[in-house]
Amino acid sequence: MCGIIGYIGKKAASPILLEGLRRLEYRGYDSAGVAIAQPQSLEIRKRKGKIDEGLARLLQTSPVQGQLGIGHTRWATHGVPSDKNSHPQLDGTGRIAVVHNGVIENYDFLKQRLIRNGHVFTSDTDTEVLAHLIGDAYAKLTEQPATLPKSAARHGKSRSQTANANDDNQGRLTQAVCNALREVIGTYGLAVICVDAPDTMVCARRGSPIIIGIGDGEHFVTSDANAIVAHTKKVVYLNDYDVATIRPGQFDMQNLGTDTANVQISNLEFSQEDAQRGRHAHFMLKEILEQPQTVQNALRGRLDFEAATAKFGGLNMSAAELRGIDRLIIAASGTSWHAALVGEYLIEELAQIPVEVEFAHEFCYRNCPLEKNTVLLVLSQSGETADTLAALREAKRRGHRALAIVNVVGSTIARESDGGIYMHAGPEIGVASTKAFVSTLTVLAMLAIHLGRLRNLPAKRALEILHALQAIPGQIQELLSQGRHIKQLAAHYAHAKDFFFLGRGYTFPIALEGALKLKEISYIHAEGYSAAEMKHGPIALIDEQTPTVFLVPQDSMYDKTMANLAMIRARKGPIIALATKGDKAIKKVADHVIELPPALECLYPLLATVPLQLFAYHIAVNRGCDVDKPRNLAKSVTVQ
Ligand code: AGP
Repeated sequence: MCGIIGYIGKKAASPILLEGLRRLEYRGYDSAGVAIAQPQSLEIRKRKGKIDEGLARLLQTSPVQGQLGIGHTRWATHGVPSDKNSHPQLDGTGRIAVVHNGVIENYDFLKQRLIRNGHVFTSDTDTEVLAHLIGDAYAKLTEQPATLPKSAARHGKSRSQTANANDDNQGRLTQAVCNALREVIGTYGLAVICVDAPDTMVCARRGSPIIIGIGDGEHFVTSDANAIVAHTKKVVYLNDYDVATIRPGQFDMQNLGTDTANVQISNLEFSQEDAQRGRHAHFMLKEILEQPQTVQNALRGRLDFEAATAKFGGLNMSAAELRGIDRLIIAASGTSWHAALVGEYLIEELAQIPVEVEFAHEFCYRNCPLEKNTVLLVLSQSGETADTLAALREAKRRGHRALAIVNVVGSTIARESDGGIYMHAGPEIGVASTKAFVSTLTVLAMLAIHLGRLRNLPAKRALEILHALQAIPGQIQELLSQGRHIKQLAAHYAHAKDFFFLGRGYTFPIALEGALKLKEISYIHAEGYSAAEMKHGPIALIDEQTPTVFLVPQDSMYDKTMANLAMIRARKGPIIALATKGDKAIKKVADHVIELPPALECLYPLLATVPLQLFAYHIAVNRGCDVDKPRNLAKSVTVQ
C-alpha cells in the first residue's frame, strides 16, 4: 500500500525522504518519487520500479538540495505503474506538488470539469486530479492562472511573479487544500507543498493515516510511523478531516468537519531497532522467531491467577455490560479473519456467548440483524484496513459498541473503537502476518477466559488454561528448534503445483491460515479446508502430485481426523502431518511428521501455526520469491 513521507526543517530533505521511503518499502509499492522545494522552483524526481534501481539512482545522478520536501511510494490503484503515474503529481501550473494515499471516488467527474476549464492532464491517476483541484482553488485565492499556456512545460515551475513567500501565501495554500477537499468524495492521506510557500507543508487525512512527527525545529509527515521513528518518537495522529499547516518550528491544525481539531501528542512504543531486520535474512523470519517474546508481551500483566481470570485495561465496558452481551460479531480480513474463526471457537466454548464471524467487507453492506446487546469485535494488525474500519464504523452507526484487538498503537481502528486490547507484538514489517496472528490468538484466548469468568466458566478450568498459556512461549521456542527439519521438508515440496491444508475444530482455521501463508509468499496454489469436508467433493483433486498438510493433534477430533487422513492416503496423496509428540500411530500413515508439544485443545492453534509459517517461508525462499514484499500484496490494505 502507498506510503508518504514529508520533511520540513534545517536539514537536507532529500536523504531524509529517501531513507523514509526505504522504510516504507515493506508496505508494497511499484514506483517512488520526491518533490523538493527550491528557492524558485519545485524539483521532482520520480521513477517506476524499486527505489534502489529507480529513484535512488535518479537522485544520485541528479541530486536536489532543499529543506522542504515530500515523498511517496505508490501501489497502483488508478493507472498502471509508470513514471508519469508515480507521485508526486503537480497541479496545472507546476507550482504545487501532491502525494496522496487513498482513492478519490469522484475523480472522473472532477477531471471532466477541470478539463472543460482548460486543464491538461499527463497521468491516469486520481491524485493528479486532486493536485489540479488544489491548484485551481489556489489560483482563485491568489488571482493567478490555474494552468500554463499550452506551450509551457509543467516541471516545478518557478514562483509566480505576483506571489512571494509570506504568511498570505502560506494561509492561501492551506485554504486552497481545504476548499479542494470539500469537493472530494473518497479517502485521502496527503501532503502538499507549493513553490510560493517554501517553508510550509500542508497535510490532511480522511480514511488513510497521516502522522506528524515532532522534532527539534523540524517536522515530519508520514503515513506509517516506521518511516520516522529514527528521527522522533513524538507524534500526532491526524483524525478524519484534519488539515495541518506545518512550518519548521510549529504546526497548526484545523478540522473540515468541526470547529476545532483535537491535537494529542503521543509517544511511539517501539524503537528504530525493532523495525530493523538485524541479522535475519528477512523480516518475516525475524518475526516468526520473535514469537516466544511477542506472545510473552501479549500475556504480560494480564494473567490474574488469584481471580482465575485475565484482565484488560481498555475494554471500557463494565462487568455488567460484558455479562449483558447477547451476541458477538467478529469482523476482520485475511489472516485476521482466520484469527476470528479461532476466536469464535474459544469464546463460544469458554464464555458460551453466541459468536458470528464475518468478513469485514461483507458485514458493512449486508445489513445483518443485530440484537440489542450485540457487540462488534474487529481484529486488525495494522489498525488501518479499510474494510475492517468500515465495519467498525457501520456497527457504531447502528448504535452498537465496537471493540478492537489491534497491534499498531494509535492506529485509526484503535482510536475509533469504543475500547480494545493491544497485541504488543511490535512492528510487523513482513507483508505476510505471522507474530501478530499468534498474538491475536493469545489475546482472544485471554478475552474468552475474561468473558467466561464473568459467566459460568469454573475457576479450575480457567486456571488450567492460564497456566497452559504461560507455557506457550516455551513451547513455541521448542517448535522453532525443528526449523532444520521443516526447511528440509520445504525443499522436498517446493515445486508442488497445488497443496491442501486440512484440519478440524480448533485447527480448521489454522489450515486456512497455513494455506494463505503459502500462497501469498510462494505463489503456489493452496487450499485450506475442513478435513471432514474433503469427502464431499474436493478429494477428487487428490493425487500423487498433490501434497496435503494435515493438522491432526491429539484432541477431541483425533480419531475422526485420522479417518479423514486415511481417505487421502488411500488415494496416494503425500501427507505431511502436524501431530502431537509421542503419537506413534501417525508415523505409520503420514509420509512426514512435524511434532507439536502436547497442549490443551483450545491452545493448539497458537502452536500449530508456527511450523506452517516456517514451512511457507522456506518454500518461498527456495523458490526465490520476495518473501517480505510478495507481488501484488500490501501490508495494510487501506482501500476497499
Ligand atoms: C496477512 O498475511 C495478509 N497480508 C492479509 O491477509 C492481512 O491479514 C489482511 O489484509 C488484514 O490486515 P490487518 O490485520 O492489518 O487488518
